[in-house]
Amino acid sequence: MSETSAASRAVPSDPVAGSPVYPAGSRVNEAGHLEIGGCDIVDVAREFGTPAYIYAPDDIRARARAYVDGLAALGEPAGSAEVLYASKAAPVTAIYEICREEGLSVDVASGGELTMALRAGFEGEHIYLHGNNKSEAELRLAIDAGVGTIVIDSLDEVERLERLLERPQRVLIRLTPGIKPSTHSYIQTGQLDSKFGFGLAHGVAAAAAERIAAIPQLELVGVHAHIGSQIFELEPFERAAEALAGFCAEHLPDPEIVDLGGGLGIAYAGADEPPSIAGYVGAKLAAVRRHFGPGPRLLLEPGRSLVGNAGLTVYEVGTVKEIPGVRTYAAVDGGMSDNLRPMLYGSAYEALLANRASERAPADSPITVAGMHCESGDILIRDAALPRPRPGDLLTIPATGAYGHAMANNYNGVPRPPVIFCSAGEARVVVRRESWEDLVSRDV
Ligand code: LLP
Repeated sequence: MSETSAASRAVPSDPVAGSPVYPAGSRVNEAGHLEIGGCDIVDVAREFGTPAYIYAPDDIRARARAYVDGLAALGEPAGSAEVLYASKAAPVTAIYEICREEGLSVDVASGGELTMALRAGFEGEHIYLHGNNKSEAELRLAIDAGVGTIVIDSLDEVERLERLLERPQRVLIRLTPGIKPSTHSYIQTGQLDSKFGFGLAHGVAAAAAERIAAIPQLELVGVHAHIGSQIFELEPFERAAEALAGFCAEHLPDPEIVDLGGGLGIAYAGADEPPSIAGYVGAKLAAVRRHFGPGPRLLLEPGRSLVGNAGLTVYEVGTVKEIPGVRTYAAVDGGMSDNLRPMLYGSAYEALLANRASERAPADSPITVAGMHCESGDILIRDAALPRPRPGDLLTIPATGAYGHAMANNYNGVPRPPVIFCSAGEARVVVRRESWEDLVSRDV
């Protein structure tokens, strides 16, 4: 692994240093290579192969601290707010560990995520269980592990909990406040027409709260709403807090907890300007204080904004195909199996050649970055500003740290990439690459 020399100079017009898309501290080194966490990505790719998810764990820590410090800076008494890592964004045991070490609690949305959180050492009281269809097995696992809080999402779940619980259990009720932030419709979750939670209209949520209150084991301590993800405006959170306060005024006076979910957007392109973590925390806290007063504890559930820009994917270019007068395709050794977001949401990404990182892209000949899957729609980037790639180049797509590894699959029998941490010039594998043998290991 290459060591970073403190005296080393930045490359003129470094496209990476200071870019909001890359982890803090990234740069182009003297060799013209991309460097993350002090590691030369060309060396990392040589050692561990491609494709690979690479994270700068220090960057995750810094973002976790920005949440905690952002709250502390607002002058609230200790314990008046709590930050939960929404672990669906990157369910990697080593990332759970970082969040635990930084004093965060955790939101899990399945028995699998719960298992990883427990493996990473989270105490039950710091775990919040989500899910719109928690199975009996998942609820039993949560109860046995002493999960502190369950976020109730349906009446069927209430019945299941009534059957399973032999002791008191703290619960929140998930509400859908009828608010649509401007983001992709697939990741809006707070609107009335939603599979999540209980709508405020037609007395649905009120009836659910009444049902929960009638069950002696269930201790309803507060309300939850997650209105969506990759949100750049702060105003919808104000409206969500207002809607929850309206509900509580009638059905749950003096809630102990108001959980406003996650949702803070990140930069996928250099020009994107999401609100800062401090600004977002301040807006949510102000909204809760305005509508609820000093009483309730605010819960934040950031996922993407903790890990999204801390991670990137490195691929190797295998083929380059120019269709005269149409476009040039550069195909990489991954695609929709390691990053579903372009196909699922039409998400746009940037790219860089890690081994030619200081070369400028010609203005007029964008490159289409294609995956290796048997599907025409398996395109990672439509028009990437890149120097003309050559087979063997290492193509990097930044900002894949959230919902990349999380949504990876084995389409076409493609093994899932490893997760590698780069910090202080050292690279270490925290999740190994899947093998072809792994793909037949469950056969019976
Ligand atoms: N809390 C709850 C209850 C959630 O459902 C989610 C995300 C979060 C917190 C975290 O939200 P974040 O801070 O990451 O925005 N696969 C999609 C994103 C789906 C988000 C699902 N829920 C994507 O790749 O954009």
